[in-house]
Amino acid sequence: MKPDEGQTNIPETSSVITRYLRNMDQREEKPNQQHSSPVYVHNPHLNALKDDILYHFSLGTGSHNLPAMFGDVKFVCVGGSPWRMKSFIEFIAAELAIEEAKSEYPNICAGTDRYAMYKVGPVLSVSHGMGIPSIAIMLHELIKLLHHAHCTDVTIIRIGTSGGIGLEPGTVVVTKQSVDATFLPKFEQVILGKTVVRSTDLDQSLAQELLQCSKELNQFETVIGNTMCTLDFYEGQARLDGAFCSYTEADKQEYLNKAKEAGVCNIEMESSVFAAMCKLSGLQAAVVCVTLLDRLKGDQLSSSHELLQNYQLRPQMLVGSYIKKQMKAKAEHS
Ligand code: URA
Repeated sequence: MKPDEGQTNIPETSSVITRYLRNMDQREEKPNQQHSSPVYVHNPHLNALKDDILYHFSLGTGSHNLPAMFGDVKFVCVGGSPWRMKSFIEFIAAELAIEEAKSEYPNICAGTDRYAMYKVGPVLSVSHGMGIPSIAIMLHELIKLLHHAHCTDVTIIRIGTSGGIGLEPGTVVVTKQSVDATFLPKFEQVILGKTVVRSTDLDQSLAQELLQCSKELNQFETVIGNTMCTLDFYEGQARLDGAFCSYTEADKQEYLNKAKEAGVCNIEMESSVFAAMCKLSGLQAAVVCVTLLDRLKGDQLSSSHELLQNYQLRPQMLVGSYIKKQMKAKAEHS
């Protein structure tokens, strides 16, 4: 059911969403009156392709009408686990009162088990697996998808989990800068055998808006700080509990304390390439991760399943309230 069909008692949020969606429809009818920001690809070879097959999504320009399917997307949330991204779309649908909260949301990428994708209204939720290579492949195809669908003014947010440094477990970190394992704000990619260095700048105003949303929510601690992106969960993050380890507890503490001095609040495995690729494509991007443990105090994720699940809801709640606030503001000002 569409948001404004057959509803006699439309809740306040729902009428806001209805107005938002109507305004968005009108925007598309008058494109010249808007200063919209497209999603860029930088690849002349794409013009020569008859069909662009987005293989890992099981979608393509020849087989699917991407503008019809995705042209209204304004917010994209990405996260590691397919299960979490499904639960996010259910959460956001209920939060925005777009559709009945209990209706089923089909996986748009059902033709593949690589990634999962869900959509409700202007919100797309996509899983990216673990680590830089996995999220990079997903982002190449996602950026092309948004480009082929002629999406404009898209905000993309990674919601995830991380290890904190000197923070109470459950604290949410909004990334100021993504840094590498030497604490530098760069992402290195080897292309044709040569190392290409890319910037990992994220949108500072979006980060501040997210922090403000968290203050308004007032349900958990949120900080803004640097996020270290590593190539590995164990040795790459100075853990002592992997299959291999050649350093001492003191070495680990020294390294993590140096990270802390460099402004690192948390450690995860995807933010650097996420920031670099979103910047190249002109997407307004942010990273919001909850800390599952304090790495200065331990390495193993020994908290109960329920507590860890509860922590994982926090980035969803924060991003959900941000999206709701943005949609409400747009509906009121258009
Ligand atoms: N994800 C990580 O990359 N590291 C952690 O310690 C926890 C979650």
